Amino acid sequence: MKQRGIDRFSGKRVWVIGASSGIGEACANALLAQGAKVALSSRRVERLNAIAAQAQADQALVIPLDVTNDDQFHGAYQTLLNTWGGIDLLLFVSGMYIPLRADDFEIQAAEQTIEANLLGPMRAVALVLPEMLKAHAGHIAIVGSVAGYSGLPKALAYGPSKAGIINFCETLYYDLLPEGVSVHMISPGFVATEATAQNDFEMPALISAAQAATEILGGIQRGEFDIHFPKRFSRFLKLLRILPYPLYFWIVRRFVKI
Ligand SMILES: NC(=O)c1ccc[n+]([C@@H]2O[C@H](COP(=O)([O-])OP(=O)(O)OC[C@H]3O[C@@H](n4cnc5c(N)ncnc54)[C@H](OP(=O)(O)O)[C@@H]3O)[C@@H](O)[C@H]2O)c1
Repeated sequence: MKQRGIDRFSGKRVWVIGASSGIGEACANALLAQGAKVALSSRRVERLNAIAAQAQADQALVIPLDVTNDDQFHGAYQTLLNTWGGIDLLLFVSGMYIPLRADDFEIQAAEQTIEANLLGPMRAVALVLPEMLKAHAGHIAIVGSVAGYSGLPKALAYGPSKAGIINFCETLYYDLLPEGVSVHMISPGFVATEATAQNDFEMPALISAAQAATEILGGIQRGEFDIHFPKRFSRFLKLLRILPYPLYFWIVRRFVKI
């Protein structure tokens, strides 16, 4: 059994969470250009308004929210139900990264990261699932990271939050395939955005946010569960993950200079 893709985005109702910058903004712009109806969510409302201003009338809907706030999430989804009657695709892109090593590990930073990167997507999925299950239709796409494949330097909270996304998506896929609801687990490598602008090292296989959006939307259209890119980098990390630990740690120490 294979899960469904999406032939055309035109007319589809898509909720992009984390639409104000980077990968989410690029996805929102690409979806609007392809004729989708797009609900734009995140905290910076002025940036969401600027994206909506480029779209046709009634094509974009701005619904500001903080993914760590349950009440705002409920209110946002209710607005979507009242306006569109439901959604065809939840595209959860929002995420945050605080570089953390063992010598500066702070529990507050870890809590904040897990709240936003792991519990945020879980909140969104808990909201949209009942309608999708009832309809035996719909798509849930969540942006994780190749940093979730296995432990990497400076990712003491970010890594576990993204590893959690992988497990969450795998389990969702298992449960939802027989129900007709598609799940898309998205694992980007390095993408040039506000988030990576803070990196002080050379990022291998760096791609643009527009290229990332093309990979993401193409993968969803084809009905792929495991959407990872750029392949020259993500395949290498997938290979590292299956090596015995001594070899894995040796390679990471030798090649990752951060
Ligand atoms: N760039 C990369 O190399 C890379 C690689 C792998 C994975 N990723 C993942 O890709 C996703 C997008 O990252 P990006 O690089 O595009 O970063 P970005 O430009 O910093 O965008 C992050 C987005 O998340 C939103 N966001 C953050 N915290 C939020 C909160 N509490 N509530 C609502 N929205 C929130 C931000 O909006 P507001 O500030 O307006 O709320 C913004 O729209 C993240 O999940 C990231 O982990 C990125």
